[in-house]
Amino acid sequence: MSWALLVSSASGEPRLDWEPLEPPTTERDAHSVAILSPASWLHCAVSVARNMRKLSRRSQVLASGGGDAAKVWETVNALGAKPGMINMGQGFPDFEGSAVARQHAVEAIRMGGAGMNQYSAQPGLLQLREAIAGFCERRHGAVYEPTTEIVVTAGAQEALAASFLAFLDAGDEIVLIEPFYPFMLGSVHLAGAVPRMVTLQPPDFGIPIADLRDAASSPKVKMIVLNTPHNPTGHVATAEEVNAIADICREKDLIAVADEVYEHCVFAGRAHHRLADLPGMRERTVSIGSGGKLFSVTGWRVARAAGPAELLRPLGQVHTHLTFSAPTPLQAGIAAALGADDGLHGVACLFAGNFELLSTALLSVPGVRRICAAQGGYFLVAETDRRDVDFCTMLAEEYQMACTPMSVFYVTPFAEDSPCNLVRFTICKSRELIERACKALAGKPIGEAATSAKRQRTA
Ligand SMILES: Cc1ncc(COP(=O)(O)O)c(C=O)c1O
Repeated sequence: MSWALLVSSASGEPRLDWEPLEPPTTERDAHSVAILSPASWLHCAVSVARNMRKLSRRSQVLASGGGDAAKVWETVNALGAKPGMINMGQGFPDFEGSAVARQHAVEAIRMGGAGMNQYSAQPGLLQLREAIAGFCERRHGAVYEPTTEIVVTAGAQEALAASFLAFLDAGDEIVLIEPFYPFMLGSVHLAGAVPRMVTLQPPDFGIPIADLRDAASSPKVKMIVLNTPHNPTGHVATAEEVNAIADICREKDLIAVADEVYEHCVFAGRAHHRLADLPGMRERTVSIGSGGKLFSVTGWRVARAAGPAELLRPLGQVHTHLTFSAPTPLQAGIAAALGADDGLHGVACLFAGNFELLSTALLSVPGVRRICAAQGGYFLVAETDRRDVDFCTMLAEEYQMACTPMSVFYVTPFAEDSPCNLVRFTICKSRELIERACKALAGKPIGEAATSAKRQRTA
């Protein structure tokens, strides 16, 4: 097969692509595709560059940022959606979520009156802010004033973005811990801020405090993000780690963003330590939680930021300009579920059991070296004997299972001679799905047998 660089203009936007060299077969192809001489290639490249210039710089960073990682992520998601594939890549539950939340949301729509189907107040339904305050006090002993210290956002994603946009100027620096929840980085870029990365090391993914202190030593650093329990590693920050981070925040006068969306997913024997609870930290910490995660309704987009009024007021103003308010009847559903603590304990037990079952099954798969211990969260990380993408490809081909290559969760590039060999599996699923996954992992002809069977098929 020969290849040619082609320009497509069907959408009105010049695009460059490598394509197999075949004559145009349709009218669209004939009009929109041309094989380019070097001169016209140059012309087109300039035109694409000009077109890029129409994007804001921040949007350009998003468009080019991620690069290979973004492509890999798209591939994994597309793979997981294929018929017959067991999707262990993406982290959302395969069950319906809190019955109390769903029942009250439906009632709010049907019988809540006109107000329930219109905008809520920008900081959220007061009944939800009161329910959040009650939940924080019951669960963590943390007291927040519902009218000034809590803002309801459209997902924790919005709470993160609003935190960055409210407090970071272009060029300000923010300490992030990698591997990380990938959409956090995009929001940092949208704020024009510069990430300073601190890297966790397998297998325990403990927080390297000396590195953190070093990253925070830059005078441009204004903020630090701590996500515990952690996506993707499942590490739950210890009391010592949280204390040390608090020390750094106080010494350097930093704002802390505590991403605690998995606060309910802490396995037995481990405790969730809140940064905001430490001396001198409440006044500098935005604590983020997610109703979607708490009650396994991730599509609802109802979450919260809580902290001192001094931080929450500007954050709330940004929220008003981003989404104005979260969906009103769904806020009513989350308020009811919070009041009832519906199903929270069960989820942590279910996911801890899933972790154990999946660990055992994965250890029987050739190429899996070890399972990294986790103390909570939605995920399991396995260390393999090869490049992460190669392992994912093997798993998809031989076991019809999708998992996520961990390189998509890092900014710092891996050395060519020591590529990322970690892969992530989701555990936030029903026991039925986990058992199906374990069966698929155990029941497959494996290793040499599978490879030679495949070779015979393709010969
Ligand atoms: C660590 C972390 N923070 C924030 C979010 C965003 O949560 P939400 O779905 O409420 O926007 C996620 C989602 O996966 C996450 O993993």
